[in-house]
Amino acid sequence: MAATDYLVHKSESDPITLIPVLSDQFDKWLKKQTKDLQNWVNAHDYKASPGSTLNVPGKKGSIDSVLVGVSSDNIMWDYAGLPASLPKGTYKIKGRLKEEEADTACLGWALGTYSFDWYKESTKDFASLVIPKSTDTTRLEALAGGIELTRDLINIPAADMGPVELAQAACDLAADFDAECTLIQDQDLVEQNFPAVYAVGKGAADDRRPCLIDMAWGDDKNPKVTLVGKGVCFDTGGLDIKPAQFMKLMKKDMGGAAHVLGLAKAIMTAKLPVKLRVIIPAVENAVSDKAMRPLDVVESRKGKTIEIGHTDAEGRVVLADGLALACEDKPELILDFATLTGAARVALGTELPALFSNDDQLAHDLLAGGQTEDDHMWRLPLWKPYRKMIDAKTGDLSNESTAPYGGAITAALFLEEFVEKSIPWAHMDVMGWNVSSKPGKPEGGEAMGLRAAFAMIKNRFN
Ligand code: BES
Ligand code: ZN
Ligand code: ZN
Repeated sequence: MAATDYLVHKSESDPITLIPVLSDQFDKWLKKQTKDLQNWVNAHDYKASPGSTLNVPGKKGSIDSVLVGVSSDNIMWDYAGLPASLPKGTYKIKGRLKEEEADTACLGWALGTYSFDWYKESTKDFASLVIPKSTDTTRLEALAGGIELTRDLINIPAADMGPVELAQAACDLAADFDAECTLIQDQDLVEQNFPAVYAVGKGAADDRRPCLIDMAWGDDKNPKVTLVGKGVCFDTGGLDIKPAQFMKLMKKDMGGAAHVLGLAKAIMTAKLPVKLRVIIPAVENAVSDKAMRPLDVVESRKGKTIEIGHTDAEGRVVLADGLALACEDKPELILDFATLTGAARVALGTELPALFSNDDQLAHDLLAGGQTEDDHMWRLPLWKPYRKMIDAKTGDLSNESTAPYGGAITAALFLEEFVEKSIPWAHMDVMGWNVSSKPGKPEGGEAMGLRAAFAMIKNRFN
């Protein structure tokens, strides 16, 4: 099923009416209703808490309408739980919604109908919603489709989503939007000066060779926006192998790539007036006799040499070349997404991405986008005094910090070494995974910061 399949323009049968009531004004609202309804509500001890529903009976055992508790500031997630919890059927929202409310309700609904069942015999079914007239369907389709792509790419098992398949997914997306997709594969990475990408990916099997994905879309006259995503299709840790409990989820280590492809899909669907470039170093961090070793020194595209202090800190190594390439045509803006460090999760938990930026305005605009889209991030500093922690003994910098603290910051400082100071750049260290299910946020692959970034780009360049 596609992201918006449970959103319909017209209903064949008579849709059931959803009656949204503000949770904190429910008592006042109820007093104005019929005695019958008041009795029904009280008999069910229904309080209209956000996201909760109460079916109101109609004639001959039918459902006449459904009360839905909504909060004033959390509409999206209040609606997101409904497609799974309501009896199957088609619903419409009572009353005229403001455009923003309608978009938000529909996006919540769409996100609430996601289920990754590609590998299952039985598939989930959901209730449908008639799209209110005031809805901006471009934004809705852009975001719902983009987020669905991000989730799918992360959820696909690593066996079926290696560097080759990730490159194919990028080329398929490009083909859908008349974009160009260039691939630089395996040995060509060395010849075309991507030594750091090659170093991380060289240990992988014959059918999982490393690759640099470079996608371009849009009018050359538009401002250049470049997205870079960490595409580690499985992170075993390499020779510094991860213990089982930390390796288990590492199919999601291409989550950064999944985010930039999802965001690219949203941007292209909405036809935002930008010249878009998407760069993804796609590799597998494998355990093998060909894998990079601790204290190897690796060349990078920019010329700085990288000492491999730890083979499990591979993300920053591949991003070094990706970011260097991103800077070469001097875009207006570079955004990178990466499942870069466990330390960012220790600092902020799994749900709140860490944001780093060399540009205060850009950081501000991304955080503002996060506020309006309910897709929050938290800014952490590119704290210069910690830069010396990534000095190397045999090389220009190490991919491992000398200190066990501040790992998200030292990783971001490492990336900063490969970005031109004059180019506004933001780095988002994301989990890319819901560890448990919540309305509209099913356990599994998740887009985090994508809506915030979309809003920022839309506001900046529209
Ligand atoms: N992919 C991991 C980071 C990660 C782990 C992100 C868990 C989200 C959840 C990354 O490649 C990694 O292993 N980083 C190490 C770096 C360390 C060895 C310097 C980490 O964060 O522990
Ligand atoms: Zn790693
Ligand atoms: Zn990794």
